[in-house]
Amino acid sequence: MSVNERETWSSRIGFVLSCVGAAIGLGNIWLFPWRLGAYGGAAFLIPYLFFVITLGSTGLMEEFAFGRERKAGAIQAFKEVYAERGIDWGDKLGVIPVLGVTGVFVFYAIVVGWILKYFVLALQGQFAVIDKLPAYFGSFAGTPKTIIWHLLAIIITILVLRLGVKDGIERINKVMMPTLFVILFILLLRSLTLPGALEGIKFLLVPEWSKLANPKTWIMALGQAFFTVSLGGAAMLVYGSYLDEDADIPASALQTVIFNTTASFLAAFVIIPAVFAFGLDPKAGPPLLFITLPNIFKQMPGGYIFSVLFFLSIIFAALSSTMNLMEVPVEALMQRLKISRKKSVILVGGLTFAVGLPLDLSMKLFGHFADFVTIYLIPIGAVMAAVTYFWVYDITKARQAINQGSDNPLGTWWEPFAKYVFTIVAGVVLILGIIFGGI
Ligand code: PHE
Ligand code: NA
Repeated sequence: MSVNERETWSSRIGFVLSCVGAAIGLGNIWLFPWRLGAYGGAAFLIPYLFFVITLGSTGLMEEFAFGRERKAGAIQAFKEVYAERGIDWGDKLGVIPVLGVTGVFVFYAIVVGWILKYFVLALQGQFAVIDKLPAYFGSFAGTPKTIIWHLLAIIITILVLRLGVKDGIERINKVMMPTLFVILFILLLRSLTLPGALEGIKFLLVPEWSKLANPKTWIMALGQAFFTVSLGGAAMLVYGSYLDEDADIPASALQTVIFNTTASFLAAFVIIPAVFAFGLDPKAGPPLLFITLPNIFKQMPGGYIFSVLFFLSIIFAALSSTMNLMEVPVEALMQRLKISRKKSVILVGGLTFAVGLPLDLSMKLFGHFADFVTIYLIPIGAVMAAVTYFWVYDITKARQAINQGSDNPLGTWWEPFAKYVFTIVAGVVLILGIIFGGI
């Protein structure tokens, strides 16, 4: 394929499954289950579902339509919109969301490396043998032992991306996503039938209405709603740029939200009941995946097979996200430098590996980097995309672009909602995140 010919998705289901793969990631697995329990159980679902359905789907429609209209990634898309207003530095603005998403790729690739290592440990039956799992993780993460796994994660992503959008990303997501859901269902049956699982179910479901009086509950639900569907102004935008004019953007956005939320629920009902059944603490973040859960597999009947399935499902969830994340700088370099996809993946792979190397060697640096990217760059990117598309471009044209090809077009009521409510709330997410050090 020549450099100027743009690929398109081969099927609607392929596009949606690729977006679902992009959305489902660490946010669903190591943030959502704990948040659901800690911020009021079923009560948390009220703000969360409300925010993700209204704001999450609006952000997705915005990114899909912006990308489709411009047939370009964020840098070129921003450049064109600002140029039409006589501003010639729009591309410099578009670099920010691209850098933000690339930053997520840098730390995701490291975590995928850890997951690959733990998948191999699971295959070898090591969880039954390793004496102290916390100490084991401590002697692995943050040391040179991770480098080779980090590199492997990048190489796997490169191998998929070099095949292109249709033959690489779409084809593998069509296999990985259904498999992911099947595995999660199998794990769900195991977890719910463990003696003592009921306590975990109560933690997740018994509504603590008083938590709704705590602003932090609303803030966490809001932050989750944006992060979980990957709103950062570049990642979903680049997938949208490969869409046909007859694709139904509102329907695709809603389907992405629904599948992503289903995955979050499944993860919560797989993880939390098992954690309670073994009397452990359902923390969020890396310790959950790399200490608490391996500890459970060690003691659980059938722990070997369930540990293998579990880490395989996490690999699918995380790799389908790294493909989307890496596609963003890959597309940007192909377009800017007029180089082939094959050259671009090598360039991006090499650069992001080099940037990630110091983070391999220090968990502290890793934490600061991940915080900087998720607290500042990603929310800034989300705000910039909303301002650019809904304000600088034109809210009516934006709505028409979204409605193009849709069976259920949005009415004019949507315009003030998107232009004022969505954009302002995106700004609130950014500010609260900075104040609270991450939401
Ligand atoms: N949605 C991903 C998750 O839940 C994270 C992500 C955020 C990816 C922003 C891309 C951009 O894990
Ligand atoms: Na997600």
